[in-house]
Amino acid sequence: MAEVVIVENKTAAGALVADEIVRLIDSKADAVLGLATGSTPTSVYQALREGLAGRDVSKVRGFALDEYVGLDPAHPESYRSVITREVVDPLGLDPQRIRVPNGAAETIEHAGDDYEQEIIDAGGVDLQILGIGTTGHIGFNEPGSSFASTTRVKTLTEQTRVDNARFFTSLDEVPRHCITQGLGTILRARHLVLLAFGEGKAPAVAGAVEGPVTSMLPASAIQLHPHVTVVVDEAAASQLKLADYYRYTFANKPAWQGI
Ligand code: PGA
Repeated sequence: MAEVVIVENKTAAGALVADEIVRLIDSKADAVLGLATGSTPTSVYQALREGLAGRDVSKVRGFALDEYVGLDPAHPESYRSVITREVVDPLGLDPQRIRVPNGAAETIEHAGDDYEQEIIDAGGVDLQILGIGTTGHIGFNEPGSSFASTTRVKTLTEQTRVDNARFFTSLDEVPRHCITQGLGTILRARHLVLLAFGEGKAPAVAGAVEGPVTSMLPASAIQLHPHVTVVVDEAAASQLKLADYYRYTFANKPAWQGI
């Protein structure tokens, strides 16, 4: 089962996950990180500024989960821009080694397959950071997504567009399509770390961790993966039936085990 770690707040979550990423990079200089965008992972990236300071990160590679289709990469809310601003620049990563799916209309027909090949050529993702949407999506795999899916174009649900409208000047500006790693792509990463904060995420978190495995809640695909860490605050954990067991398990974890 997924290891569920209930933390006090976002800062504690960021520190915990950043520590694991630093450990990974210390043991593998050319580690491949799976990078999520959105509000959720920002505390991880923030903590990594300190955690990675003074380390050689020139060989670290990264693959973003998704990108909007048809949005100019120079737009401040394109995921290329977000990853550059929040991850590449502050952490001093090599921009050439950090890939984002290509949402340009001209190449969209093969952009998914190209991206899959790039991930394979890099040796696969070592640690994949994930947020979770209120619809239960991971990446932009909306309800109904196949567990075998690979990187491809998807249509965003209205709920996701509304959720993301806060990043744009109006709902109309939010793209309707995206290109996202599939659930099958995500499941191939060696370690999944899913973060969620706030009450609004509680139903999706409970469904993902303890509900039936169903494409209607795409994040439930994590139950099929052998190494998953779910890091949540009390509010996002509030609908977990086994919350006390998760607390007990983490409190009694052998010191030598990472997350
Ligand atoms: P958020 O989005 O981190 O902005 O809440 C999560 C997601 O949609 O995966």
